[in-house]
Amino acid sequence: MVKSKEIRDSFLKFFESKKHTIVPSSPVVPFEDQTLLFANAGMNQFKDVFLGLGTREYKRAADTQKCIRAGGKHNDLEEVGVDGYHHTFFEMLGNWSFGDYYKKEAIAWAWELLTEVWKLPKDRLWATVYRTDEEALNLWKTETDIDPKHILKFGEKDNFWEMGETGPCGPCSEIHVDLTKDGCKPEDVNAGHEEVIEIWNLVFIQYNRDEKGELHPLPKKHVDTGMGLERVVRVMNGKKSNYETDLFTPILDEIGRITGKKYEGKYISPFNAIADHIRALTFAVSDGAIPSNEGRGYVLRRILRRALRLARKLDYNDPILHQLVETVVKNFGGVFPELKDKKDFVVNVIKAEEESFNLTLDRGIEHFREVYERVKDNKDKVFPGDDAFKLYDTYGFPVDLTQVMAREKGFDVDMKKFGEEMKKQKERARAARKDEVILADTKLFELDEKLKSENPVYNPYGVTEKGIKTILLQAKRIAGSDLEVLVLKENPFYSESGGQVSDTGKIVFSDGYTLDVIDVKNSHFVYVKNYDHRNLFRKEVTAYVDYERRRAIQRNHSATHLLHEALREVLGSHIKQMGSLVSEEYLRFDFPHFQKVTAEEIKRIEDIVNDKIAMNIQVETLADIPLDEANNIPGVKKFFGDKYGSKVRIVKMDKDFSAEFCGGTHVENTSDIGLFKIVKEESISSGVRRIFARTGEGILRLIEEKITDIETIVSELPDKYAAKIKDGLEKIREGIKEADFRDTAMMKLMLDYQNSTYKSLMELREKYVEEKKQEQKKLLKQNIGKHIEHIKSLIELSEKVNGSAIVTGKLDIGTSDEFKEIGDETRKILKNGVALFAAVIDGKINLVCAVSDNLIKEKGLSAGKLISETAKELGGGGGGRPQLATAGAKNIEGIDSALAYFVEKIKNQI
Ligand code: ALA
Repeated sequence: MVKSKEIRDSFLKFFESKKHTIVPSSPVVPFEDQTLLFANAGMNQFKDVFLGLGTREYKRAADTQKCIRAGGKHNDLEEVGVDGYHHTFFEMLGNWSFGDYYKKEAIAWAWELLTEVWKLPKDRLWATVYRTDEEALNLWKTETDIDPKHILKFGEKDNFWEMGETGPCGPCSEIHVDLTKDGCKPEDVNAGHEEVIEIWNLVFIQYNRDEKGELHPLPKKHVDTGMGLERVVRVMNGKKSNYETDLFTPILDEIGRITGKKYEGKYISPFNAIADHIRALTFAVSDGAIPSNEGRGYVLRRILRRALRLARKLDYNDPILHQLVETVVKNFGGVFPELKDKKDFVVNVIKAEEESFNLTLDRGIEHFREVYERVKDNKDKVFPGDDAFKLYDTYGFPVDLTQVMAREKGFDVDMKKFGEEMKKQKERARAARKDEVILADTKLFELDEKLKSENPVYNPYGVTEKGIKTILLQAKRIAGSDLEVLVLKENPFYSESGGQVSDTGKIVFSDGYTLDVIDVKNSHFVYVKNYDHRNLFRKEVTAYVDYERRRAIQRNHSATHLLHEALREVLGSHIKQMGSLVSEEYLRFDFPHFQKVTAEEIKRIEDIVNDKIAMNIQVETLADIPLDEANNIPGVKKFFGDKYGSKVRIVKMDKDFSAEFCGGTHVENTSDIGLFKIVKEESISSGVRRIFARTGEGILRLIEEKITDIETIVSELPDKYAAKIKDGLEKIREGIKEADFRDTAMMKLMLDYQNSTYKSLMELREKYVEEKKQEQKKLLKQNIGKHIEHIKSLIELSEKVNGSAIVTGKLDIGTSDEFKEIGDETRKILKNGVALFAAVIDGKINLVCAVSDNLIKEKGLSAGKLISETAKELGGGGGGRPQLATAGAKNIEGIDSALAYFVEKIKNQI
């Protein structure tokens, strides 16, 4: 058995001997390329070099690249696991020439490695070339000793390679291996034959395809090759399937151990798919992608869900994938060390996603069954599209999953109907978002040819209080609103991007006519309200950015960069910005993390940021940095989904402590930020946390808000408690007026003071509440004492029948708490007799009845029975024990007669 490691190593060693620089794989999540969901080929990281936009220090390179192909141009997720050679994740071995060697060396070296180093039998190799590429065809004949009959020509589909819809491309020459027993025929090549497979693709990059689909020759010619490691390892070991190699067997073994199933028969395909999918998930999540409902996150979600559903074919219904991460990391962590760093995080992300899907999956499968029962006898064998939509919308089933389940029953999903339902839902969502309706006329956000020819400039970077003089080029009303969109020759107002909100400000005409700027979109489009349509075009205006507000925004933006790095230092390198908002009042930052950030961690994060602020660090902004140079800055941060041109802007603080690709605006020096304070930390979805923080003047506002809270509480307290705190509050309020937020020590003092005031206020309030309780208890006791005296005299004065007292009376009692005590107290002093008392509390009758023990024993009296009879007469009800019972009733006028009637009744019973 030749190990995969030996093959990978020998490939790299071979090209090192041919003067290639061995480079690391780029992340499988390509942050900087919007056209690409995942790295799909080794050449991705060199796209800029091919296009002539970037350079490298070397002209030849080789690596093993982490790739994912799961949908899009190059792969169909549903194929994976069914045969032995399709994958979502795979390693692509590759070698490159950047305008250096070309077809001749590429072909000769490929042949040398395959036949001399790896010793593959020459008569089992086939080469294909693009139908018009006579040059490559001849080179195969002159540079190698391949059987000339084994060189075949093919068209675009097989021998013209493209990265995607757009990008570098060119004719290619592929090498195929024949693994059949008796040797294959020419027509078996490129025919989907399981045993005649392509292993290496040599691409001769010479064009760029643009958005319109047109090819443009590139400045230089390049070589880009790619060889699937999984296939080569299989070929070198004479195996029937890639899954039978050491790239998969440890994972398959683990699946077998967990599920108790054997890798055979009908189980092979689910085993394969799960092993494949966990590799894709582990690599992608390690590189920063997270399952979600959009873009690459949605691809991962589909991969995970497919794997889980297939696990059920192994009779395994629990989350299985996260249990396999360890095995993947063990097998690939040596080559890709990032896997080891991120292991725990990956396990957490996958586990959370599995658990939430399993919940809906069970309910979804049930729904699928119900629908199937309903339609199973239909002749057309169509699974209804609206039910497929419901499965998607309510149970989170990707539609391809429903298709697979339907197909298993011989049904097709009505995709037309499904598409209609999807469209309707999108429209509903759009209508629900009012903002979008106003802005729906997106043409407003594009400069037309006439405006373009005026070269309007977007320059929010050099803003000062003074404003800039410029010219109004255009004003357009948004239909049905009072908003007007202006275009200025030079626009100093920042346009929302990268989380930083748009500027506001004023535009002043020479005659003093002034407009309030309320928003900015797409760099050039400035929103104003109630514009008076006079013919003002071409007039000179002065544009003033609300500079105080802008400065507050900048403080929060620079603090966001410091926070990002502090989070990575305290919580770990898995922290990435998933979203942020930078406004004048606060900043908000979202990041992946699976635990609550503890108070102690928050303190450490705050300390790191505040230290950097205290260090008076000059903030460096580097504009127009070539992308490859920018990429080489140690630890530089880029963002998911952002598209970067060939030149980028970098914001750096404290040498390389923080360096980010950023188009936003910043303070000049960190000391301008003032104090930094985290005000809230929360979870916004599984595995995603959000931090709110404030800086600078925002801290003063924060103290003010807190003081207002404190004042509300204080106002509920009696003066004896409040007086001292009120004094203190006055002092802080005064202090705020004078305070300079840059004096961070002072700010800290004020914050601490406000915090401790709040704490002692809470203690006081507790004390006050406790004191009040005690007072009430005392009062209660006193009052009850008075009532008992009254009851004693009632007993003395009452009618006695056979020595037993029959006591009734209306008591003047104000609260039900007091009334509750009355029964027990009466029982204590009523040695021989029956008592019934009534009191009207809050407009309702309260009754209590007590009977002495001797009457219960000798005469069979029961307080419970007696009181319920009396209460009934008064339109109420109640009951209790023979000794003591209570009731409530409504008919207040009837009390006197009811009490009199009670006395008469008892007389007869004792
Ligand atoms: N970029 C080429 C491929 O992916 C080598 O096949």
